[in-house]
Amino acid sequence: MQAQAIRQAFLEYFVEQGHQIVPSSPLIPRNDPTLLFTNAGMVPFKDVFLGLETRPYRRAVSSQRCMRAGGKHNDLENVGYTARHHTFFEMLGNFSFGDYFKREVIGFAWRFLTERLSLPPEKLWITVYEEDDEAADIWIDEIGIDPARLSRCGEKDNFWSMGDTGPCGPCSEIFYDHGPHIPGGPPGSPEADGDRYIEIWNLVFMQFDRDSSGTLTPLPKPSVDTGMGLERLAAVLQGVHNNYDTDLFKPLIAAAATLCGNTYGSDTATDTSLRVLADHIRACSFLITDGVLPANEGRGYVLRRIIRRAVRHGRKLGMETVFFHQLVAPLVAEMGSAFPELTLAQREVERALEREETRFRETLERGLSLLEEAIAGLAAGAAIPGEIIFRLADTF
Ligand code: ALA
Repeated sequence: MQAQAIRQAFLEYFVEQGHQIVPSSPLIPRNDPTLLFTNAGMVPFKDVFLGLETRPYRRAVSSQRCMRAGGKHNDLENVGYTARHHTFFEMLGNFSFGDYFKREVIGFAWRFLTERLSLPPEKLWITVYEEDDEAADIWIDEIGIDPARLSRCGEKDNFWSMGDTGPCGPCSEIFYDHGPHIPGGPPGSPEADGDRYIEIWNLVFMQFDRDSSGTLTPLPKPSVDTGMGLERLAAVLQGVHNNYDTDLFKPLIAAAATLCGNTYGSDTATDTSLRVLADHIRACSFLITDGVLPANEGRGYVLRRIIRRAVRHGRKLGMETVFFHQLVAPLVAEMGSAFPELTLAQREVERALEREETRFRETLERGLSLLEEAIAGLAAGAAIPGEIIFRLADTF
């Protein structure tokens, strides 16, 4: 199943269950100074959960574009090296604002995966918050999960918070077992960090608002927030282990490989850099589309760091001239129909990336010549003076 069809199936399923489709909001949260970026599908609904805003519906479904770079949920340094981390991704989510709660959402999630998508139940593994007997009972007694395939985990894994403050609550996660040929153990086991069992869907039972002192106040009504990574689900449904082998990334990796004159699958370092480029072109293009420009602070600084990371990986692939903006067109070809705003912003995105890369390359050249001069002037075995190191880190 291609990503476009998965997105569609998810929205349709929840429309059948009485949900209103809500289009993706931008990556910049509206009126929320506590957050750098929209980092989950629930962000546009934060005030609805808190009871500060009402909507004409109590059930919603969305495919929300998200960024996890900078702030509480930050995956930037993992990108390229793992099968499943991204700075930019899409989160499929269904939401209840004081309408249904644990029993219904667990049933919806299970039936969507096992009936609509026909995933084999024995490939799924469940976690619940250690104190949440109610959720465990629903999974075991009503859904019929084998208790041997359910783990109870602590706050770190099964209590979800949007940020330091805001709506939060215990959660239950659904994992997919990619098979014994991949190292790793089930959630809650000492080998849980391996790549065999991958979390695909998080069902959050929103119950509290956390304030800046850490105090939890019950929400006006128990609610539901869920999030399933489109990229991870696409990997499962396309029978691949690595998100970068799905139709969401393959065309971008191919475009990057052609541009750089490399082949994906040739060696680890090349593959890592090509994955970085495929991930970062999505993040940078959507950030610029949503109004962020490279800068020295805040959101613009995160964008600048992502662009620089992409350019550094491009240099590793042998790209000696400004190139990154040439990946915008292949991205628009892939995602422009789902996100028309991206198509409209194409020229602007290309110009901003080209300008930033040009400046960065000049800075980098100056820094590299400073470094080379410093090294040339050293006696054998001597260290580079701290003053030079400081200038390199601070200015170049
Ligand atoms: N908001 C929850 C998450 O991001 C669903 O995992």
